[in-house]
Amino acid sequence: AQQVPNILSPEFAADPYPAYRVMRESAPLFWHEATRSYIISRYEDVERVFKDRNGEFTTDNYTWQLEPVHGKTILQLSGREHAVRRALVAPAFRGSDLQEKFLPVIERNSRELIDAFRHTGSADLVADYATRFPVNVIADMLGLDKADHARFHRWYTSVIAFLGNLSGDPEVTAAGERTRAEFAEYMFPIIRERRENLGDDLLSTLCAAEVDGVRMSDEDIKAFCSLLLAAGGETTDKAIAGIFANLLLHPEQLAAVREDHGLIPRAFAETLRYTPPVHMIMRQSATEVTLSGGTVPAGATVTCLIGAANRDESRYRDPDRFDIFRDDLTVTTAFSAAADHLAFALGRHFCVGALLAKAEVETGVSQLLDAMPGLRLADGFDPVEQGVFTRGPQSLPVRFTPAAA
Ligand code: HEM
Repeated sequence: AQQVPNILSPEFAADPYPAYRVMRESAPLFWHEATRSYIISRYEDVERVFKDRNGEFTTDNYTWQLEPVHGKTILQLSGREHAVRRALVAPAFRGSDLQEKFLPVIERNSRELIDAFRHTGSADLVADYATRFPVNVIADMLGLDKADHARFHRWYTSVIAFLGNLSGDPEVTAAGERTRAEFAEYMFPIIRERRENLGDDLLSTLCAAEVDGVRMSDEDIKAFCSLLLAAGGETTDKAIAGIFANLLLHPEQLAAVREDHGLIPRAFAETLRYTPPVHMIMRQSATEVTLSGGTVPAGATVTCLIGAANRDESRYRDPDRFDIFRDDLTVTTAFSAAADHLAFALGRHFCVGALLAKAEVETGVSQLLDAMPGLRLADGFDPVEQGVFTRGPQSLPVRFTPAAA
């Protein structure tokens, strides 16, 4: 069998896809000492763990990963408790609410960022747009003061640094814990005030939500909002950067999308398959489970490689080719996020914000294409993605014909 590469090495971080292929072919299940987990990479196995039809997996492993920075969120919960807690928040992210209430918020926030650089003829689509847009949208959807967007952005940066702190840098850990305290200090008075004066925003919806007599406490709401920063910010940020990187590296597909914005949902779906923002998701086995290549004992951590499963040749033809026209990929609609790529996971924890992400990316890409005629990569673009758990271009310098002043 070929040697399985070390998933924490710099070579792997630079380009994990050759390593993913080796894993799928020769080691579809193996024990990885550094992450103390069993790693799986085939589409059918990752799909089975996510769908979890027989209740063999929990997300207990998230307790130590997420709790220090967010507190308790739906991601850490399993079973009936998860179902109730998820039902409290899910309606706010339905297609109908998004279209009516939040589409104008999405359009406005995208336009404001674009207006800051459209007259210049150049931009870094990561720093000037992708890292800001989803976080601004969340803050605005929650009904927070616009003057606080910059603060929100700082907390967002600190939270994702905490979650990506593989080397356990104590300063990053301490900064993450400080952020948790500052975020709570900021949110609690706002939540209390909002309970007295319910409005039409997301925070009011969360304050008023009730399922089977259960309501969200101030702590629950604060923790969920903190989760939104990471779950809804970094992921969407990387999806937007990814879609532009993929299109700019395939100019004929960029031209086709520019010509027909109706192709943007395809470009989004193919980007999520080809370069998913989240590459690894962990689960805990509740019982002994047999997967391709062997058995996982009860109580073990299982690392599901989304980035590997999405390029499984037994599921997608010619999987290492970026092709928005491929016919073996389901493209979602405005009211259904059901997808076959695994970028949003599947089953109980399937991304609550999938339709919001789709609305943001589609609106953003459409506005950006219109605002940037003649779009091309600027010198200095490094197409290498970075990151292990989440991945995406770290910068995306572009040039275009400036809009007339
Ligand atoms: C769950 C990916 C955007 C909120 C998830 C999961 C994935 C994912 C893989 C499953 C995690 C697991 O099973 O352990 C993505 C991607 C996005 C995106 C790739 C963008 C392209 C968003 C947005 C929001 C959001 C915009 C909300 C503002 C959530 C929440 C969960 C979740 C709350 C937890 C659901 C649960 O535990 O039941 N997301 N996400 N996500 N996502 Fe997203």
